Amino acid sequence: MTPDTLAALHRAAFTRERPWSAQEFADLLANPHTQLSASEHGFALWRGIAGEAELLTIAVDPAHQDRGIGTQLMNSWMSEAAGTCTSAFLDVASDNASAIALYTRQGFEIIATRTNYYHRPDSRADALIMRTSLPFSVSRKSSGGLRPQGGAGADSPLPTQSALRKVSLHHTCPNGQKAVDPTPPLRPNPL
Ligand SMILES: CC(C)(COP(=O)(O)OP(=O)(O)OC[C@H]1O[C@@H](n2cnc3c(N)ncnc32)[C@H](O)[C@@H]1OP(=O)(O)O)[C@@H](O)C(=O)NCCC(=O)NCCS
Repeated sequence: MTPDTLAALHRAAFTRERPWSAQEFADLLANPHTQLSASEHGFALWRGIAGEAELLTIAVDPAHQDRGIGTQLMNSWMSEAAGTCTSAFLDVASDNASAIALYTRQGFEIIATRTNYYHRPDSRADALIMRTSLPFSVSRKSSGGLRPQGGAGADSPLPTQSALRKVSLHHTCPNGQKAVDPTPPLRPNPL
């Protein structure tokens, strides 16, 4: 995915937050610690430093949500991060119920709240800081059944694993680096 494609998808998915520009995506991708997991209709951007992974943003095209793409993207980047990182962090608006549900299913737990962290055109929203240990357990659906991890069956809307194109831009989590700052200056905007 190009920075223009990422920006267009981000703009379509995030209706309440300021969309990230193509230049902001280009700058993030130029960072040696940033990695992208992408499929045809969504992407997750994350980075790993000193054994800690941080989800920078995740977005699925609204026309393709609720089909398991977000779960597949989470599984993809967390699997990759588990190769070099032992914990993962993210932040999410406290009123973003679907994202919180997705992260909780992935094993994330709330560890802190930042009041009025997100600035919206007409309001502010709190941020929940969430954390999980890596490697992670496979995601489970709310019914308790296992979510397919390696590709969908013929009757499932889940994308196949091969459809998820993981773009490793650089090595992550090099030893001796400063731990991830929970409010890093690198990010153009919170999730
Ligand atoms: C959050 C986001 C990435 C989730 O992506 P998604 O592709 O819709 O996620 P999934 O399809 O994996 O899961 C969403 C729902 O579909 C359900 N689902 C997933 N796979 C399914 C399947 N095979 N069959 C039926 N339902 C399925 C999940 O149980 C989940 O339901 P629930 O949240 O109501 O319990 C997406 O909604 C998005 O881009 N939102 C806007 C941007 C945003 O808020 N990003 C996160 C900021 S922190």
